[in-house]
Amino acid sequence: MSEWIKACKLEQVKDGQLFSFIHDEKKILLANMKGKIHATDLICTHADADLSTGFLSDEGVRCPLHLSVFNLEDGCPQNLPAETALGVYNVKIDDNEIYVEI
Ligand code: FES
Repeated sequence: MSEWIKACKLEQVKDGQLFSFIHDEKKILLANMKGKIHATDLICTHADADLSTGFLSDEGVRCPLHLSVFNLEDGCPQNLPAETALGVYNVKIDDNEIYVEI
């Protein structure tokens, strides 16, 4: 069973920025790519790296540790060493708040 969790205000994730939040045990990354908000797992699938300290580009989010890039639509790594996709989550905006379906 999934539920919609309020993550933060829309203005906290500006264009080109990354944001992390934790709900219970779930660690989620929010990314604003050209005005669209994406939600994925926060921790890299390769090792224990926090992707919110990585870099956002047109290709996706780049892990700060070994530089795999993950597509924000499907979570798939675009280059080694990561081989496993990140989980991706539905996002909705309501009254300037970001909600993620977890
Ligand atoms: S920890 Fe992210 S690529 Fe290695």
